[in-house]
Amino acid sequence: MTTVPASAADVVADPFFRRLKALVIETTGMEFYADKDDDLARIVQSRMAETGASDCAVYLERLFDEAGEEMDALVAELTIGETYFFRHKEQFDALREQVLPAVIERNLSTRRLRIWSAGCATGPEPYSLAILLKREFGEQLLGWNVSIIATDINQKFLARAREGRYDEWAFRSVPEVIRRECFTVSGRQWVIRPEYRSWVNFQYHNLIKSRFPSILDNIASFDIIICRNVIIYFSRATIEGLIPCFHEALVDGGWLVMGHAEPNSELFKAFQTVSCTGTVLYRRMDAPPPPVPQPASVPVLPPPPKPAVLAPPRPRPLPTPARPAAAEPSGDVLAEARVLADRGDWEAAAKACDALLAGHNLDSRVHFFRGLVLEQLGDQGEAEASLRRAIYLDRHNVLPHYHLGLFLWRRDDAVGAGRSFRNVQTLLERLPDAHSFADGDGITVAQLREAADMHLKLIGTP
Ligand SMILES: C[S@@+](CC[C@H](N)C(=O)[O-])C[C@H]1O[C@@H](n2cnc3c(N)ncnc32)[C@H](O)[C@@H]1O
Repeated sequence: MTTVPASAADVVADPFFRRLKALVIETTGMEFYADKDDDLARIVQSRMAETGASDCAVYLERLFDEAGEEMDALVAELTIGETYFFRHKEQFDALREQVLPAVIERNLSTRRLRIWSAGCATGPEPYSLAILLKREFGEQLLGWNVSIIATDINQKFLARAREGRYDEWAFRSVPEVIRRECFTVSGRQWVIRPEYRSWVNFQYHNLIKSRFPSILDNIASFDIIICRNVIIYFSRATIEGLIPCFHEALVDGGWLVMGHAEPNSELFKAFQTVSCTGTVLYRRMDAPPPPVPQPASVPVLPPPPKPAVLAPPRPRPLPTPARPAAAEPSGDVLAEARVLADRGDWEAAAKACDALLAGHNLDSRVHFFRGLVLEQLGDQGEAEASLRRAIYLDRHNVLPHYHLGLFLWRRDDAVGAGRSFRNVQTLLERLPDAHSFADGDGITVAQLREAADMHLKLIGTP
C-alpha cells in the first residue's frame, strides 16, 4: 500500500518541494505562493492524498504526465476566486458613463463590440458586463455582433461560470431589482437568465502560458479588456511582461480596466491614463480617433453569431512581450497575415491572405488561416468555405477540422461539429502526445485531443 505524506510539514520537508513550488509559480504566475510554503504544502498534500502520490518527486511526475489533468486539478485548488456581481461600482459607472458610449460611437460602422474579461473566476464579472450592456445599451446594440470572452486558468471556476448559478453572497453589491429581473430563483440560489448569457462565452486561458494576442484563441482585437484582481498575485517581472500583451490585444482606442488597487502610472505608461470618478482607466491611443461616421451610413450587418467557444487548453511557452508591428523575418508565408490578425487588423489580414492565394492557392494552411480571419470579419459563408477548402486540400491537416468543428458548433450545427471533432480524434490517434502544431501556436496533440473530447462531451456525443 502506498503511503502519502501525513502533514503539510512533511511536504515542505520533502527535497523536491522546492521544484514543485517553482513549477507552480512558473505555470500560474502566482508568485503569491513564494513565501507561503505552509499554504501551498497543505494544498499539495491534499492532492497527493487524492492521487496516492507518495512523495513530491512522484507527484511532480503526475503533474508532467497526465496531459495537464493533474495540473488543472492542482490549479483549481490554488487559485483564489473571490468575486461578485458589479464589484467596484465606480468602475461599472465609468463603463456606463464614459467607456461604452465612446466605444459604441467609435464602432458604429462595424457594429462589433469585443470585450475580454481576463481572470473571470466563476463569472459574475462578465455577466455583470452583459447585464449592463443589455439593460442600458440594448437598443443601440440591436443587430450588433457583441462578444464577451471570459477566460480563466481554473477549469472548475469555468464550469461553475457556465452553469451561471449563484448564492446570495454574490449579490452583495447588486440592487434587488437587477437580481429579480436578470436571474431566476432555484432553491436557495439564483440562475442567470438566458438573455444575459448569450453574449458571454467562457474559455480556458492561462495569462502566463498562453501567448496573446492570438487569433487562434480568439484573444485579440478587443475594445475593452477587464482584468481585475488577477495580477495582484503575480511578480513585478510577470506583470511587466503581460502589460504589453494587453496593449497589443486592444484595438487602437481600446480600454483597459484593471483592479481598484492596481493602478500604477509607471507600469501602464504605454497607455493614456483616464481619470474617472473613483477610478482610473487606461486607453490604448496610437493615433487620433477617426471622425465618427454618421448613423445614416451604417451598413446593415447580419445578426450577431453565437459567441465564440471554448478554446483548447493552451501550450505553455513563456509570456511573450508585445510582438512587433511589422512581419517577423521568417520563412513562413503566413507571417505577415498572422501579425496583422493578432493586431486585430482583420481587413488587412484578409487582404494579405487573398494576396497569398495568388501564389499559394493549393496551400491548405493559407485557406485555413483565411477562414479564421473571415470569420472574425463576419463573412460566415466564405469562412466556412475556406475551412472546407483547407480540409479538401489536405485532409490530414487537423487544425482546419478542429476549427470547422468550432465554427459549426457556433452555428448550432451539432451534427456537423460532432463529425469534425471525431475527425480530429481520428487524425490524432497515431500522433505522439507531445507533438506540437506550429500553426496552432504550439498546441500539442494531447491538448488538442483533450479539447476535442471536451467539445464532444458538451455536444453530448462522447
Ligand atoms: C480574485 S479572482 C478575480 C475575479 C474577477 N476578475 C473579479 O475581480 O471579481 C482572480 C482570478 O484570476 C484567475 N487567475 C489566476 N492566475 C491566472 C492565470 N495565470 N491566468 C488566468 N487566470 C488566472 C484565478 O483563477 C481567479 O479566478
